[in-house]
Amino acid sequence: MDKLLITGGNRLSGEIAISGAKNAALPILCAGLLTSSTVQLSNVPRLQDVSTMLKLLRQMGLRIEQTSEQDGERVAVCGRAIDRFEAPYEMVKTMRASILVLGPLLARFGEAKVSLPGGCAIGSRPVDQHIKGLQAMGAEITIEAGYIHARAKKLKGTRVVTDMITVTGTENLLMAATLAEGETILENAAREPEVGDLANLLVAMGARIDGIGTDRLVIQGVSELHGASHAVIADRIETATFLCAVAAAGGDVKLTNVRTDILDVALDKLREAGVVLTTGPDWIRVQMAARPKAVNFRTTEYPGFPTDMQAQFMAMNCLADGNSRVTETIFENRFMHVQEMNRLGAAITIDGHTASVSGVERLVGAPVMATDLRASASLVIAALAAQGETLIDRIYHLDRGYDRMEVKLSAVGANIVRVKS
Ligand code: EPU
Repeated sequence: MDKLLITGGNRLSGEIAISGAKNAALPILCAGLLTSSTVQLSNVPRLQDVSTMLKLLRQMGLRIEQTSEQDGERVAVCGRAIDRFEAPYEMVKTMRASILVLGPLLARFGEAKVSLPGGCAIGSRPVDQHIKGLQAMGAEITIEAGYIHARAKKLKGTRVVTDMITVTGTENLLMAATLAEGETILENAAREPEVGDLANLLVAMGARIDGIGTDRLVIQGVSELHGASHAVIADRIETATFLCAVAAAGGDVKLTNVRTDILDVALDKLREAGVVLTTGPDWIRVQMAARPKAVNFRTTEYPGFPTDMQAQFMAMNCLADGNSRVTETIFENRFMHVQEMNRLGAAITIDGHTASVSGVERLVGAPVMATDLRASASLVIAALAAQGETLIDRIYHLDRGYDRMEVKLSAVGANIVRVKS
């Protein structure tokens, strides 16, 4: 297992190009299942999760061509010869987003067999709302031997109100509804920009969707979808991760290829922390010369504060002047970075869903363990700001969702090296 060795204390300076969003690329690749024509994608990030998704789609018979470009990959997905409607346990256990093949397979081929995702490090994460929505659209669903078996001659449009806001649940139902008979209304839909990015691609493929970006998506089913070209939206979580890195370690960095308009809450919080931000439509300059000020926040669905940025902002708070309270409302177990940060000298206590952080003047490097994707990113941030060496183990978590993070950080002056196992 690879590790990252970081010697903290360097100020960061230079330019970083942001990659395409993982959480947009994954559903967007699955949209290739909805048509026999080719979907041409650009700005696809080079990530382990994308490789896993491509492997799964290839197993189903999709033809996939990848071309490397400077800022990401071009991927052409052709669903002409799909002959296997299954996502096996071996794939789903390594990546929960595999559940995103369920809706498209069922809508186009009338059947799907997808392993039930098991528990996850950050929470129990059931998929009952995906199932409830598809059942409401007329699917027959049984759970047998750990698999979801879904069948429907033709899905029928209906009104679906999910019990809670779910991102991949909305995406699954949205993709299914594009090929259903009649009108589907998705109430309580997730408004995350990645859902909007998927919806925009589906419209380019011929889908009829109203309400994109709102919590009420209205879809008129069509008999078939065609090919389209689409550039994956910039990764707002990667953007925020680098912003927090500069906030914690200090420096002056310009982030390019960003979507400034989908980062409101994060940018507001950073300004509250004393970070100097200058923005253009597709770039952000971040400057930090002082110790950050502590900021309180509570995670919620978009447009609120994202759970996927919680750990990274907490890393900044660890070094801040003052005390802060961080409340996690989306996942029940997303504080696993806390114990590791405390090993670096942070002063964090947890009471239920709230972490109380007493800012300290310095962190000191130590060996730590990455436990999930965003927890890993937060440890990188803490290590960049800490004195001395930090060795982060299990960085395969980081590789799942960050495109060459150590390369991008080295280029702005961080002392960070990958130690191959
Ligand atoms: N939930 C249910 N039943 C369902 C679906 C969700 O109870 O059928 C609950 C979950 O257990 C959770 C809450 O609803 O407590 C929200 O979960 P959601 O379904 O929105 O999460 P997700 O779709 O599985 C996506 C991202 C996550 C991100 C969350 C929240 C992708 C591939 N994953 O997961 O990304 O944290 O939305 O924004 O889009 C990450 O990138 O690090 C990551 C974990």
